[in-house]
Amino acid sequence: MRNIDRRAFIASLGGAAAVAGMTSEARADALEHYLAATMSAPAAAGTNRRAPTVAEVEAQIPTRNYRRGVGNAFVAKEGGNVTRQPPLPANPTLVDFIRLRLDSNAEHCLQSARQARLKNMDEDIVFACLVHDLVLSVMRAEHGFWGAQMFQPYVSEKVTFAIRHHATLRFFPDHDAGYEYPELYRTMFGSDYVPPPHQQAEYQWVRKHRWYMAPRLVTVNDLYAFEPGVAVSVDDFVDVIGRHFRQPKEGLGFDGSPVAHMWRTAANPDAPL
Ligand SMILES: [Fe+2]
Ligand SMILES: [Fe+2]
Repeated sequence: MRNIDRRAFIASLGGAAAVAGMTSEARADALEHYLAATMSAPAAAGTNRRAPTVAEVEAQIPTRNYRRGVGNAFVAKEGGNVTRQPPLPANPTLVDFIRLRLDSNAEHCLQSARQARLKNMDEDIVFACLVHDLVLSVMRAEHGFWGAQMFQPYVSEKVTFAIRHHATLRFFPDHDAGYEYPELYRTMFGSDYVPPPHQQAEYQWVRKHRWYMAPRLVTVNDLYAFEPGVAVSVDDFVDVIGRHFRQPKEGLGFDGSPVAHMWRTAANPDAPL
């Protein structure tokens, strides 16, 4: 693993006591977020240093042997090698994928779903939070759209809408809804980053849509913080998944749907073609 500023990392999580209370998975997930943010901008790794500019973020591009949009399953970002993956059962379900393949951001998604449930949000919002970033194992660039596409045949139109647009709404604060621009984005995208015109237009359109609050509530629960001592298991959400995800009996990847290849890609990211 590359050297990181341990003090800055621990401070970013709320101090040593908070870190001590975290599960090892939560710690690993937090570290991944931290590395993802700071590897693009080493100058900003310390808490007191400024976030990079867009030009500085772009200058980092030719210093890496991968592109930042690549799915988490395809690259060992901490400098080691990727690992062999455990086999999937026959007729794999969403729960199997969460446990065995789409796991790079599963802890983050489960924490988000837990937050939504604690706030008594509608169950379809809890479910949208539960799946909103799972696609990051397959693709990071444009992840709202990739994620929505991957889930569309199996979930309601409103959940698809929430997944698709949460990524863009992340760039636009909504004080009334309790959502502020994430500090992490200043580091990831650059302190002077302005979303491109197509994303501005998407935001304006979603803002007026009757389902605006669905992706907005996903962003409200889209925490990069991890609660100390709180381990969230997918077991706690099996009932929610059962009510909001139409599991194909043939298994994901084998039902002949237009997105089955996306699930097969997640199942076997080592396929050379
Ligand atoms: Fe996201
Ligand atoms: Fe997220």
